[in-house]
Amino acid sequence: MKLLTLALVSIPIFAQSRPDLSGIWMYVAGKSETARGGPEKALLSIEQTASRMRHRFVVTNRGREERGEFEYPVEGESRNSMRGLSIHSRTSWEGGSLIVNGRATLPGDGGEMVVREKFTLGSGGKNLTLERHQTFGGRENKETLFFERASPEAIAEFNRPEKKAGEQYKNLRVLGEIPSSELLPTMIRFQAALGVKCDHCHVPNQWEREKRAAKQVARKMIEMVHSINRVHFDGRAAVSCETCHRGQPKPSTGQAAAKQ
Ligand code: HEC
Ligand code: HEC
Repeated sequence: MKLLTLALVSIPIFAQSRPDLSGIWMYVAGKSETARGGPEKALLSIEQTASRMRHRFVVTNRGREERGEFEYPVEGESRNSMRGLSIHSRTSWEGGSLIVNGRATLPGDGGEMVVREKFTLGSGGKNLTLERHQTFGGRENKETLFFERASPEAIAEFNRPEKKAGEQYKNLRVLGEIPSSELLPTMIRFQAALGVKCDHCHVPNQWEREKRAAKQVARKMIEMVHSINRVHFDGRAAVSCETCHRGQPKPSTGQAAAKQ
């Protein structure tokens, strides 16, 4: 009998050790430690229920806004996608902190991205620190981001429509109308479909320039794919780069087989 009461008493104690991180959190640059300067502005929204968590963010970096959303079970494994990468995560709790361990394979032979994030509430729930340790393509990065509770009206930032890619990037002639957060995933799909890296079409970090002929060919290809889908498939994305390229920069024309 004594054992039973003990067991019943201990259950709520375990449940309590998982704090509720819900809220809208505003990044405070002055109290954060980042290697590369950190973002100009960032808002994080956390919605936590007994079983699930939803993290959304709006980050402004060098004048460019980026958004993202992750859904996790409160404890356990999940899959999310971010900038076109498929991220496998495991959430757990450690001494009142939420731990998110994430892993993704980078396209090409870029290796693996491994990230460990630790979220801890401070000052009776008034602030939140995020310690992040990331290894990405062989490089290591550690940072501590500090957040304070934002007013509930800040939710409007998450609800307003996202900027178009054309408003945030400098030289888009065919992809200007897609949502800004879709631009990099689109690039990652190009590189996977053609089996190349970014530098096949770009001089790295001079993305807006027209240095590589392949970039101009790619633009014509994007227009061709749009037109095939519009004319023949009611605007559905039935045909994509992958349909012809299948991991090759120059698809096989099939002529060798036809000649036989
Ligand atoms: C197959 C060719 C191709 C590959 C591979 C490719 N891109 Fe692009 N990229 C383009 C084209 C074409 C545009 C311009 C689209 C337009 O005009 O709307 C572009 C535009 C961009 C822009 C916008 C630049 C600006 O300010 O106008 C960025 C950023 C970018 N690419 C990054 C990348 C990154 C990062 C990678 C690798 C992950 C990559 N691209 C791989 C063809 C490519
Ligand atoms: C209907 C088939 C088809 C589709 C769909 C297609 N391509 Fe192509 N692509 C080709 C063919 C065929 C060639 C080779 C043309 C040649 O031999 O000159 C090519 C060549 C290219 C090249 C030049 C290769 C080089 O030498 O660097 C690029 C870049 C390219 N495609 C990008 C794309 C992108 C990006 C998409 C998706 C938006 C796409 N293609 C969709 C058929 C296709």
